[in-house]
Formats: sequence, C-alpha cells, structure tokens
Amino acid sequence: MSIEKPEYRKKEEAAEVSEGVLYASLLSTRRRRGERLMSDKYAVVGNPIDHTKSPLIHLSFAKETGQNIDYAAIEAPIGGFSEVVDKFRREGGLGLNITAPFKLDAFAYCTDLKERARLAGAVNAMKFEVDRVTGENFDGVGLTNDITRNLGRLMKGRRVALLGAGGAARGVVLPFLEQGPTELVIVNRTVTKAEELGRQFKQYGPITAIGYSALADKKLGRFDLVVNATSASLRGELPPISPEVFGDDCLAYELLYGKGLTPFLRLARNAGVKRLADGVGMLVEQAAEAFVWWRGLRPDTGTTIKKLTVPLE
Ligand code: ATR
Repeated sequence: MSIEKPEYRKKEEAAEVSEGVLYASLLSTRRRRGERLMSDKYAVVGNPIDHTKSPLIHLSFAKETGQNIDYAAIEAPIGGFSEVVDKFRREGGLGLNITAPFKLDAFAYCTDLKERARLAGAVNAMKFEVDRVTGENFDGVGLTNDITRNLGRLMKGRRVALLGAGGAARGVVLPFLEQGPTELVIVNRTVTKAEELGRQFKQYGPITAIGYSALADKKLGRFDLVVNATSASLRGELPPISPEVFGDDCLAYELLYGKGLTPFLRLARNAGVKRLADGVGMLVEQAAEAFVWWRGLRPDTGTTIKKLTVPLE
C-alpha cells in the first residue's frame, strides 16, 4: 500500500501549510505549558470614547463563545483617524468598530466596501487582511434585528416614520425598506436633506420625504413605528412632532441608548404609546453582526441586552 504525499501546487503553498502545522504545534506546546497566548486584537475607535459599551459587549460575546480576543477602546484625535488605524494594523489588529465622529473617515480609509456600507456612505466595522481593509455597516441590520426579533414587531405592511436625515438615519433607510413597509416617510428639519435621501433610495421601496410641518398635516395619518434618528435627544431637545403621529399599538424607538426617557420617548409615553424602546438592542445586535463577521460564530444577544438596559422611567 502506498501512502500518497500531498502535492502542493506552489512552493509558497507548501510553505504556508508547513508553517501552519508548526504554528499549531507551537500553540499546543505552549498551551500544555500553561503559557498565556497572544489574543486576537480588536477595538472600537471614537471621540469621545469613555462611555463606550463595545468592549464589555464583545468580551462577553467572546467569553460565551470561547474565543480568545482582546478588545480595547481607542480615542482618536479629530483629524487623526487614519494614523490611529495605521498603528493598530501595524500592531496586528484584526478588526475595528467605528463610532462617532469617524464613520465617514472609516468609509474613506477602506480599500473594499460591502454593499450596505457603500449605500449608507458610512462604515461602522472594519476587517483587516494583509493589504485589504474591508468596510461594513451593521447599524441598520442591528436596528431591524432588534425591532423584528427582540421587540417582535413586523415592519412588513406597516407605516414607518423616520425622524432625521443625518448619518444615523442614512444607515437605516435601506434595511428598513428591505423589510417591506407600505410606506417609509423620512422627516427632517432641513427638508432638502430628506429629499436627497428619498431620491437616493427610491428604487428600493416606497419612500417619501417631508418636513415637520407636513408631518403635522392630519391627512398624512398615523404610524405603526416612529424612529427618532435625530441628534436632538443628545441636547435634551425634541423634534417638533405632534403626539398624533403615534398610531394605535405603535412602537416609538429612540436610537440613543442608556439615557432613560428622552424628550421623544416621554412625548410618546404621554401620548399613550405602550411600546417604547431605546437603542440598546440595536447597539448589541450590530455588535453581534460584527462578531459573526470577524469570528464566524453567533453569540446570544439577550443576556447582554438585559445587562445593559436602563429602565425607561
Ligand atoms: P447623526 O450622525 O447623529 O445623524 P448628523 O449627521 O449631524 O448626526 O444629523 C443630525 C440629525 O438630527 C439631522 O437630521 C438634524 O436635522 P437637520 O438636518 O435639519 O440639521 C437632526 N436634528 C438635530 N437636532 C434637531 C432638533 N432639535 N429637531 C429636529 N431635528 C434635529
């Protein structure tokens, strides 16, 4: 009986295989000796970054799925995003989450863009492979997963109002339209910005763009889902909406998280809305999508969402 030797097409392939075997045996020797191994490096980049929950979320996903990763929070100076990313890559970093205000800088940095990132015009997760930097955007899918799976709301056949037309709103338009609402109405203070979004996404579904005065018109009717994607709540402000926009059994969703009852959620509650949610579920769900993309394993999100939830009272 003859034992077939593997035939390698190229010398480099043979070298790669033997390097891999060597690396695996080195790892097992070091594990037997109980040595601490270098973990795969990930991080979140933003400014400010001190309140980020991303390290806590990713480390709890890693623990649950048995992955050995290191996850840091990095504050990049404004205007200094690419230097920070260059350094992180030189040090062997494998992936980054990107938060405000760097999602556009991240978009510009990438050599490859996934469709969701390209259409959103913003990147919230990056993956590094040799010379290739791939950009993704999981914000929208994080939000729709939270609404449909965790909060149990179908968007198909429903009327949806999206308040805001800035970076946060832009990332959720396409994932919303993919859910098949009867109508997606984008409402913005600067109407031209809403109209621009409307034009860009009109081939993907029934989208309308209006200002707040048009929203006040009773003919427009009520909505099954109203999402506040403006930055108003950051300053304790309220977009000028009437309580009449909330339909029976409406879900009012605030993208900002961890601030309890924001002016928007308070207005909704006072209007009798029973289902209120903030963006904690979206945050954890987008993190889970990035984790799957990087590690190939899907973590459970329910316990992490529970851990991070601030009561809306
Ligand atoms: P982000 O990345 O958080 O979306 P952004 O791109 O600066 O930040 O966009 C902020 C959004 O919130 C915009 O849609 C803005 O409306 P304008 O385009 O008219 O500026 C909206 N916004 C901020 N404060 C608001 C307020 N008090 N009332 C209504 N909309 C507000």
